[in-house]
Amino acid sequence: FHVDIDAAQADKGTYPFYMLKEIDEQPNVMRKLAQVYLNDAGDPVINTDLLAALKAADRLYVVAAGTSYHAGLVGAKLFESLASVPTEVHVSSEFAYNQPLLSEKPFFIFLTQSGETADSREVLLNVNEQKFPSLTITNVPNSTLSREATYTLLLHAGPEIAVASTKAYTAQIALQAILAKALGQAKQQSGANAFDVKQQLALVANGMQALVDEKDTFDQLAKADLLHTPNTFYIGRGLDYAVSLETALKLKEISYVQAEGFASGELKHGTIALIEKDTPVIGIITQANTAGLTRSNLQEVSARGAKTITIVTDALAKNDDTIVLPTVDERMTPLLSVVPGQLLAYYTSLNKGLDVDKPRNLAKSVTVE
Ligand code: G6P
Repeated sequence: FHVDIDAAQADKGTYPFYMLKEIDEQPNVMRKLAQVYLNDAGDPVINTDLLAALKAADRLYVVAAGTSYHAGLVGAKLFESLASVPTEVHVSSEFAYNQPLLSEKPFFIFLTQSGETADSREVLLNVNEQKFPSLTITNVPNSTLSREATYTLLLHAGPEIAVASTKAYTAQIALQAILAKALGQAKQQSGANAFDVKQQLALVANGMQALVDEKDTFDQLAKADLLHTPNTFYIGRGLDYAVSLETALKLKEISYVQAEGFASGELKHGTIALIEKDTPVIGIITQANTAGLTRSNLQEVSARGAKTITIVTDALAKNDDTIVLPTVDERMTPLLSVVPGQLLAYYTSLNKGLDVDKPRNLAKSVTVE
């Protein structure tokens, strides 16, 4: 079974590429998710059977590929922090043939924009054989993984046409935040009650809008620092590391600049050997407890000639930071810190004259293992 979205059906309007349109749609996707999944009081409205099944689980297993896997890394933090449930995140192609020892009452969450990824489906088939409950979070109604899982939640992001995923990633994180709050409330976790997800999504939507309104800044930055470099690094710790992986993937897949995301503390254990004069190193700093450490790591690479760029939340910003993000709850910062990475990737690809929406060797939906 294969779902093909006819590109002509989704209107590109005045945009040169779908990717830019989809980046721009993110504030509205945040508002849409709040509208669909939150009531007037700001509390999540989630299927009660699904919530009961989640509540019965002693551990969540988030399984996904590519960008969706990166969204899962962020989701795990949300589930652990708001619902106090241990959460593991796995790459589907690995999990499928090397299933780890499971907890007694596992619950599986499949994150998949298309709902068709063969690697993830292979895991779901195994999970169904073992009779474990599952949820597919997808953008495509009636997709294979949505039909085959016990429960489905839709991302409501609208068709995503560009191969490089943007709005599906942020939608996956926002929906996991809503679900984590719902589960935390069902489990009477005080942290979940205190977490105002409605207000946070509104702040995020406004913050995203402010970023996408600054396109020229990212165009200039891409031209100055990324266009002619053979390689680059994104670094961060915790959630900033998770976003580093995603922003590096965005850059490499559409601009062909070799880009890697690293845990900033790990750089000195080998990879720092690759730093040369003018190697761009982009530091993401949104978590107060590790901000100072990542800044020291940036100084280390700077002392070896790297050109450093910083993406920092307002609350942690210093005078010479490159990009300053509006402050939101620390657990929600990936929704904002990813946007500069999306735009830098877009403008690097565009300025290289590449086909942004259809990078070489890649497909939107991968139905082979
Ligand atoms: C392909 C796409 C990626 C996507 C991955 C997982 O490789 O090019 O953008 O992240 O599949 O897709 P899914 O539809 O399962 O999220």
